[in-house]
Amino acid sequence: MKVQHFNPIRIDEVSKLINKISKQASASQVTNLSNIVISLTSTIICRVAFGIRFDDEAHEKRRFDEILAVTQEMSAGFFFSDYFPLCGWLDKLFGNISKLEKNFKDLDEFYEELIEQHLNPNRPNTMEGDIIDILLQLRKEKSTPIDLTLDNIKAILMNVLVVGSDTSAAAVVWAMTALIKNPKVMKKVQEEIRNSIGSKGIVKEDDVKNMPYFKAMIKEALRLYPPVPLLVPRESMGNSTLEGYEIQARTILQVNSWAIARDAEMWENPEEFIPERFLNSDIDFKGQHYELIPFGAGRRGCPGIALGIASAELALSNLLYAFDWELPHGMKKEDVDTNVRTGITMHKKNELCLIAKNYF
Ligand code: HEM
Repeated sequence: MKVQHFNPIRIDEVSKLINKISKQASASQVTNLSNIVISLTSTIICRVAFGIRFDDEAHEKRRFDEILAVTQEMSAGFFFSDYFPLCGWLDKLFGNISKLEKNFKDLDEFYEELIEQHLNPNRPNTMEGDIIDILLQLRKEKSTPIDLTLDNIKAILMNVLVVGSDTSAAAVVWAMTALIKNPKVMKKVQEEIRNSIGSKGIVKEDDVKNMPYFKAMIKEALRLYPPVPLLVPRESMGNSTLEGYEIQARTILQVNSWAIARDAEMWENPEEFIPERFLNSDIDFKGQHYELIPFGAGRRGCPGIALGIASAELALSNLLYAFDWELPHGMKKEDVDTNVRTGITMHKKNELCLIAKNYF
């Protein structure tokens, strides 16, 4: 089976991002980091998963962005029928059901078109070895424990699209938010990156393993601002008792990883951004240390952790290597808020707008 090597795709897209910001820096324009980073990570996912690259201005890209925005709104939206089944009719009354059905139809058509394009013998080379291609090959070879149907493949693509595209972007924006509010940490991390890379011009994925402070800073940002704070909901399989409370089978359970990571019983000065806490600690975020679970844990833990972390590390290290970052005129670091927008992914509510200065 031919599997695409995704590393060059990420480097290619990050280089384009750096060029774009560099032009804004030369023109002394403010850079809207929230927009630019979301566009980067959704482009990476489209190339990695679907083998296509949408031009930023193209009609197809706008269609994709619109569908994704409604899907994310629907995934996090409140439905009466989930909590009060007898009041399900209220969902119909408020138009939630028709909106959900339209979104489902749009997504279904979108996946259907992509699958058809992949099955076409004259498809572009970029589709070779992407996620859809691999799933179709697994289906053809019957090499999975269950026979994969096209609906199964669409469901997998749905997960990749909804949780894969903007989580890394949220991680980058929150890390930059924490850094601009903590200039000493920003300086220290930039020194480490620039000393390590010198005048090579770009940070590559392999370089990051020689940057322990940078890695500790990402862990600390994920601790304070986990992009998926409530993980995905679980359902209890049997009756159980927890601290005297009886919990019935089939109860929906929400795991608040945000609260766990700020628990004063487990963390010293939990509300403060101190990457040093991870320098001499073996606590990692891969699901083995329950005090830090930004990617969840157990069988439902994030399967995209390697791609998510690689994209976030590559984007962040290059942003910090190539530019010095300042607040727009008249703004103090205390003015940068950390309010959040509702949704499965925890995004910064107000966009992060900063001034980039070319370092080289
Ligand atoms: C920094 C980036 C990312 C973060 C913080 C993140 C976080 C998470 C978390 C917390 C969960 C739920 C785990 C649980 O409940 O135990 C999850 C699930 C998942 N993630 Fe990620 N993720 C990231 C990137 C990605 C990427 C890039 C992909 C795909 C290419 C991806 C695909 C998935 C999928 C398919 C699920 C399973 C959803 C389900 O069970 O319904 N994630 N992720």
